[in-house]
Amino acid sequence: MSGNIITIDGPSGAGKSTIARLVALRLGLRYLDTGAMYRALTLHCMRAAVHLDNPKEIADCIKDVKLSVKLKHEGPMLVFLEEEDVTDKIRTQEVTRNIHYVADVMEVRNFLVDMQRKIGEAGNLVTEGRDQGTLVFPNASLKIYMFATPEVRARRRHTELMQRGAETSYEEVLEDVSKRDYLDMGRELGGLKKALDAVELDTSELSPEQVAESIVKLAKSRLKMQTRKIDKNALEAARRQAEAQKDDSGEK
Ligand code: DC
Repeated sequence: MSGNIITIDGPSGAGKSTIARLVALRLGLRYLDTGAMYRALTLHCMRAAVHLDNPKEIADCIKDVKLSVKLKHEGPMLVFLEEEDVTDKIRTQEVTRNIHYVADVMEVRNFLVDMQRKIGEAGNLVTEGRDQGTLVFPNASLKIYMFATPEVRARRRHTELMQRGAETSYEEVLEDVSKRDYLDMGRELGGLKKALDAVELDTSELSPEQVAESIVKLAKSRLKMQTRKIDKNALEAARRQAEAQKDDSGEK
């Protein structure tokens, strides 16, 4: 492995993607959004009208899929199926609802883990997901496990939903958050788990900028990395873009 790899794992709604993007920008690293890869394969299977409750059909469907990604320091990672840019199309509630069928299939995980490791060969990467520090990059230079209580994550999401004009109660959102945690943690291969050598960060009381800053500090002290001077507007734009990428349910 050449160059540093920083892994950021944690449950949905902990703020991983905004924070990972801010860290990538400050440290001049490429940003890999592994959730987007699972989303793209889910969209591919939905389009092929496979029975999502049949793992064999899913495995067959992804066998020859042409999935590619384009990583950047700034802005979102772009995702392509064949030549089609599906970066925005993978952010629908329907895709979010169906991901667990696809993410549970071993062939899917093996396919994406391989692809992620190939991307990692060039180093200089901040990668975000559920299994990055445990399974995909066990030798990463710095591992972060980010969390916030289900109540805090549900409250944040509920506030976002209200701002988008959706009518849903806090209790419903909390139930949804708990269900996703259950599915993510219970996954046999690549389930959400803290790596033994990961630094735990509780984001409950902190802003994305504060959490990103503490990761940048760790990278500077432990990895002797240098920060780039980024003007405030670029940081604010990265934060806003990450927020805008959430789907209609406020989910990312
Ligand atoms: O980060 P996200 O919410 O966009 O991820 C969507 C789903 O993809 C998430 O619920 C679980 C799955 N996922 C996974 O199984 N492994 C990863 N490394 C990243 C995401």
